[in-house]
Amino acid sequence: MLRTHTCGELRLENANEEVTLTGWVQRKRDKGGVLWIDLRDRYGLTQLIFKDGETADELIKQAQDVGREYVLKASGKVIERYSKNPDLPTGDIEIEVTDLKVLNPSKVPPFTIEDNTDGGEDLRMKYRYLDLRRNEVRQKLQLRHRMMQQTRRYLDAQEFIEVETPVLIKSTPEGARDFVVPSRMHPGEFYALPQSPQTFKQLLMVSGFDRYFQIVKCFRDEDLRADRQPEFTQIDCEMSFVTQEDILSTFEGLTKHLFKEVKGLEITDAFPRMSYADVMKYYGNDKPDTRFEMRFVELNEVAQGKGFNVFDSAELVVGIVASGCAEYSRKQLDALTNFVKRPQVGAKGLVYVKCNANGTFKSSVDKFYSQDDLKQWMQTMQAKEGDLLLVLSGDKNPTRKALSELRLHLGSELNLRDKSVYKPLWVVDFPLLEWDEESQRYYAMHHPFTSPKPEDVEKLDTAPGEVRANAYDLVINGVEIGGGSIRIYNRDLQKKMFQVLGFTDEEAQKQFGFLMDAFEYGAPPHGGIAFGFDRMCALFDGADSIRDYIAFPKNNAGRDVMIDTPSNIADEQLDELGIEVKERDK
Ligand code: AMO
Repeated sequence: MLRTHTCGELRLENANEEVTLTGWVQRKRDKGGVLWIDLRDRYGLTQLIFKDGETADELIKQAQDVGREYVLKASGKVIERYSKNPDLPTGDIEIEVTDLKVLNPSKVPPFTIEDNTDGGEDLRMKYRYLDLRRNEVRQKLQLRHRMMQQTRRYLDAQEFIEVETPVLIKSTPEGARDFVVPSRMHPGEFYALPQSPQTFKQLLMVSGFDRYFQIVKCFRDEDLRADRQPEFTQIDCEMSFVTQEDILSTFEGLTKHLFKEVKGLEITDAFPRMSYADVMKYYGNDKPDTRFEMRFVELNEVAQGKGFNVFDSAELVVGIVASGCAEYSRKQLDALTNFVKRPQVGAKGLVYVKCNANGTFKSSVDKFYSQDDLKQWMQTMQAKEGDLLLVLSGDKNPTRKALSELRLHLGSELNLRDKSVYKPLWVVDFPLLEWDEESQRYYAMHHPFTSPKPEDVEKLDTAPGEVRANAYDLVINGVEIGGGSIRIYNRDLQKKMFQVLGFTDEEAQKQFGFLMDAFEYGAPPHGGIAFGFDRMCALFDGADSIRDYIAFPKNNAGRDVMIDTPSNIADEQLDELGIEVKERDK
């Protein structure tokens, strides 16, 4: 090595040792007579000192000439510092430099390489390699590394075999659009990048692998959000000869292992479970944040039939209790009303009831409801004096969705969403199918390989919308961390499923013939799950965006601004592929 120690290593015990360090110039301070350079590498920061009269003039001159982010090799003696820095692990010592070599100069970086950088998001992404020099960002990737190693350790100990599956595949319908790759050898034909290795892991079960996992890149061409990237990583798993219970306990085990080994957090309780029907009823959301309760209470019985037409004509009247918020001002209530009226939330208005400390009520619907009526609301909602009731009404699904947004908004406003608290929840018994109004057909809620609950199979013909699936999601703090299902492993049932999804037999055979054929050669009962690995890393670190947990992420428009892609390709390349571009961006 060009160095004897790292920049984070030396302590007072090393005093008087002759050492050589290498690293980048974090900052330089010239106090006239004394010059200091903070030298940084991945491991830490060490102070170099150059003193008039003690250090050779030539060296001082050299030190004066270095700039930020120069790469240096410095040799000298470790000495005790006159004024120590208790905030720095190496803060008791400094290096009295006797030899200095500039290994490489640097241009002035476009933003400061500090924890609180002056660089905006765009600039940081353009120079991501500099951004990655910052402690904060590097630590996020180190967390990711630890998560990855611990995942492998746990799954290996449980006899899972890590198998790589291909990246150039055929489109699998999993809800999002595929990224496609044209084939030069077969003009007009395309590969698709996998949205997940779903069909391959099922084939590995047919092959008898019994327990498979892969930490794998998946690609989905969908609208991006803070927790979505076009290419992201899954911990993808599949097991044979299992029930849903086996999968839940194995992967609850993985989650607990990661919390313990990576965060030092021991979770001993079993993760709570709730059916899809219940999470929708109580939280209006299939990934509820259960760090706080504030459950929905349906009020149709007590609030309808009193002449308030808005409620009387609604399919659902439903409310939440904001504990201790009866004192909310007009302005605060208006702000909540404006919140629910936002197009993304979609409610027409908000009814409030203040349960005053003196036992009286003040509401926005006093014209229609007596004090006794409102008292009944309060009792139904198990609220108490000092609480504020917030009520929405309308069609069931949109009203639940809007109230869920309001609940989350209040949860944040009332500081009930503590990032150091972790509340996992298994959501189980998802519906198998989802009706789409626009295309007037059913879609698989999870994917077409998910098994219906045996007791519901008969309803596939009579009431497909009511069929429940052996499908589950792991939700932590309102984030969907993972999802999976017990699979169909019988050719006839798989064929039936494709029929319900509107595939003709020919289409099903063309797209999934390989899987259905495989099911005729002794497919074992199997099931699995995939975790969103980037989301898991962000969650473990208390962050909302997954971007910083990915070394080279895409921006919100799906661009990598550093390498400037997507980008045009040469006409010759297009010709070779037999592709003509209809419209190019100007
Ligand atoms: P699913 O589609 O639910 O299941 O994906 C599994 C998990 O992957 C994460 N995830 C994402 N993370 C970042 N960016 C994205 N664009 C993105 N999309 C999904 C989520 C999600 O819970 N093959 C099935 C799994 C199975 O059935 O075994 C699948 O892919 O955290």
